[in-house]
Amino acid sequence: MKKVKKRKLNIKKLIILLIPIIIVSILLINISNLITLYQSKITGYNIDTINVFHELNVYNDIKKHEYSDTLEKIIKTEYYNKNYLNKYLNINYYDKDNFFENINKLLDLGYTSEDINMIYDKLSDESISLLIENDYLKDIINILKLTYFHENKLDRYLKYNKNNELSYENLITYVNANLDYTYYTNVINIDDPENVLVIVNKYHKLDNNFVPSDLEAIDPKYNRGFNNKMRHEARLAFEEMCKAALDDGITIYSGSAYRSYSYQLNLYNRYVATNGFDDAETFSARAGYSEHQTGLATDIMNAKLDFISANDKEYDWLINNSYKYGFHLRYPKGKENITGYMYEEWHFRYLGVDVATKLYEENITYDEYVARN
Ligand code: DAL
Ligand code: ZN
Repeated sequence: MKKVKKRKLNIKKLIILLIPIIIVSILLINISNLITLYQSKITGYNIDTINVFHELNVYNDIKKHEYSDTLEKIIKTEYYNKNYLNKYLNINYYDKDNFFENINKLLDLGYTSEDINMIYDKLSDESISLLIENDYLKDIINILKLTYFHENKLDRYLKYNKNNELSYENLITYVNANLDYTYYTNVINIDDPENVLVIVNKYHKLDNNFVPSDLEAIDPKYNRGFNNKMRHEARLAFEEMCKAALDDGITIYSGSAYRSYSYQLNLYNRYVATNGFDDAETFSARAGYSEHQTGLATDIMNAKLDFISANDKEYDWLINNSYKYGFHLRYPKGKENITGYMYEEWHFRYLGVDVATKLYEENITYDEYVARN
């Protein structure tokens, strides 16, 4: 009797003892799953990704940041580089070929997460490959925001960037202006020669037979040259400018305005014969490449009938006033590498008041203006 009682007691005791052990065991087994589930809920990552974070011991870093699709995807691939963890967090995910490989390469080159977001937002796969093959392009975000950035010229921008230390605006402007090409190569034949805003330079050529249809003789009061014609609109503006100058006590004349193709050809050849080719190239346009053939340019003379020079009061007046009449000093000092010509204090081009005013205000050449518009 006594023996049975003891046995009963033992079973009861055992059950009482076992229940909490079982409960605790069940809880222990599930607690880590519960934690992972909770972490997944609060961070937005999948449970298996949370497990990877724990394996790599980075969960605590990651939970401080917003959810990153890029990190979630890359961390399970061979491309995950722990040094770039914080960078991945800020890179937007793009479902594109070689995305992980490419972002690593861009990070290797020195691009930031923000740069990479902009690059993927704006550029084609082909352009991204080009970036990867080249050196780091500084200010890429600003470059991609420029209205005058042309993606089809990206290879030229990258190449020019290697050999020149330029601000990002000038890098893009100069390549747009073809300055990465040798003068008189990659020449475009002008198809709207009568447009008042036509650009004529060492990359833009007029047809040999082009003669403006509305050439008119400048009032003899304001002309002292043999080439005395300008196009109607430019002639009126020039005469108005001469009158205004006179009102201010300044006397200016046109010294050489419209020049035909054949006239320019003889002139250029004569300069080459007397000054030599290299020298002539710095101040004389080859035939077909001269603004004088447009009927919109003139070389201006001072009261003494010399071509204007920077020391003349006439020059000062023109610099401060010519834009009001639509004229622009076409080959200014310090911009020789852009215009392709030496400083010509006397050569003024009619562009209309709006554009001439913009050039005056921004202190840029017409070549730069065209490259940015
Ligand atoms: N002297 C200017 C550049 C011309 O020949 O047209
Ligand atoms: Zn000239």
